[in-house]
Amino acid sequence: MSQIILFALVALTALPTAFGLHPVDVNVLHNFDSGVWAENLAVRANGQILVTRFDTPEVLQLDPTGSKAPTLVASWGSATYMGCLGISEISADIYYVVVSGFLDDNFVLTSGVNSIWEIDMSTFAVSRETGEVVSNATVSKLVDVTTSGFLNGLTALSTSAVLVADSYKGCVYRVDTRTGKYEVVVNDTKMKFDSISEPAVNIGVNGIKIRNGYLYWTNTAVGTLNRIRVSNKGIPSGRSEVVVNNVATADDFTFDSNGVAFITQNFMDELSILHPKWEAAEVIAGSNISTILAGVTAGIFGRLPGDESILYLTTSGAAGSPINGSVTVPATLSWIDTSKIRA
Ligand SMILES: *[C@@H]1O[C@H](CO)[C@@H](O)[C@H](O)[C@H]1NC(C)=O
Ligand SMILES: *[C@@H]1O[C@H](CO)[C@@H](O)[C@H](O)[C@H]1NC(C)=O
Ligand SMILES: *[C@@H]1O[C@H](CO)[C@@H](O)[C@H](O)[C@H]1NC(C)=O
Ligand SMILES: *[C@@H]1O[C@H](CO)[C@@H](O)[C@H](O)[C@H]1NC(C)=O
Repeated sequence: MSQIILFALVALTALPTAFGLHPVDVNVLHNFDSGVWAENLAVRANGQILVTRFDTPEVLQLDPTGSKAPTLVASWGSATYMGCLGISEISADIYYVVVSGFLDDNFVLTSGVNSIWEIDMSTFAVSRETGEVVSNATVSKLVDVTTSGFLNGLTALSTSAVLVADSYKGCVYRVDTRTGKYEVVVNDTKMKFDSISEPAVNIGVNGIKIRNGYLYWTNTAVGTLNRIRVSNKGIPSGRSEVVVNNVATADDFTFDSNGVAFITQNFMDELSILHPKWEAAEVIAGSNISTILAGVTAGIFGRLPGDESILYLTTSGAAGSPINGSVTVPATLSWIDTSKIRA
């Protein structure tokens, strides 16, 4: 449905910019307790949503109906790790997640180490009656990425490798999930936070996704979505390019099946969309004076027949950059119906 509307939109108007999209309604599926920063998410084939917390090292499962309390899937010692970030599925119910060392307010690693862990959800079971976990997920460390600064976005490269963004060093690692061997595969100027003078935040490359032979990434400090051609091993070729430069404080992003990008702008409290034929992104929800999408961190589409047009969104409640300098709200798992996007 969303695809049809967006295609119709582009067919009718060959204009590259400024469609003046109507804001879509943002719905709250779950309000987290105070202090929670919901950072990233993945949707399982059964529709359940895995949410990572950045404020403490935990992964939770939430039901897409919102009818059940979140269930703890995995946790790590909070004396050893600060929080969890990117999460992605690489084969049926096998997830990899970033578990970070301790970062200061400038996102500089001050102690501990950033690591990548495997979460095998195939062993996870919850009682239908009580909601209690009757069998745990199987959680194991893949590797400590000892050379990393601030590991953030993570995406599947194949069934045996992931790519992981280092927001502080401005590069992307490929990590072999069978051996744990890792190496820098992309080290591009457009991934550096300090490629501009006086960056507002020390976060360069953040969200990363592969689509049609390209690696796409956001640069938070620069406010861009970028791309470069990569091989199936993640090795870049040719020149990197800026796809759009009007997505201030871009955090993570996701594509729908037509290649429309949905870009979360954490410190602007906005969600923008970008059709492949547009020259600029357009805001469809939130604003930097509203709590509607306070500190929106990441989005992903549902996988059930009933929720494939639903974009689920994690929010921090603006913990990273309070609205109007002082307003924060509870973090959420929110959603929008992308079939309702209208010019
Ligand atoms: C699951 O793991 C938690 C935390 O280690 C533990 O407290 C709980 O007993 C485990 N549950 C089952 C069913 O093994
Ligand atoms: C990226 O490339 C620059 C310039 O060649 C180099 O100084 C830097 O060490 C590289 N970074 C990584 C993480 O490999
Ligand atoms: C932020 O400030 C603007 C302008 O004063 C005001 O309209 C808006 O309601 C404020 N937002 C919040 C979340 O307090
Ligand atoms: C909101 O963003 C605009 C730029 O788009 C900026 O001029 C303004 O100062 C921001 N307002 C707040 C309250 O952050």
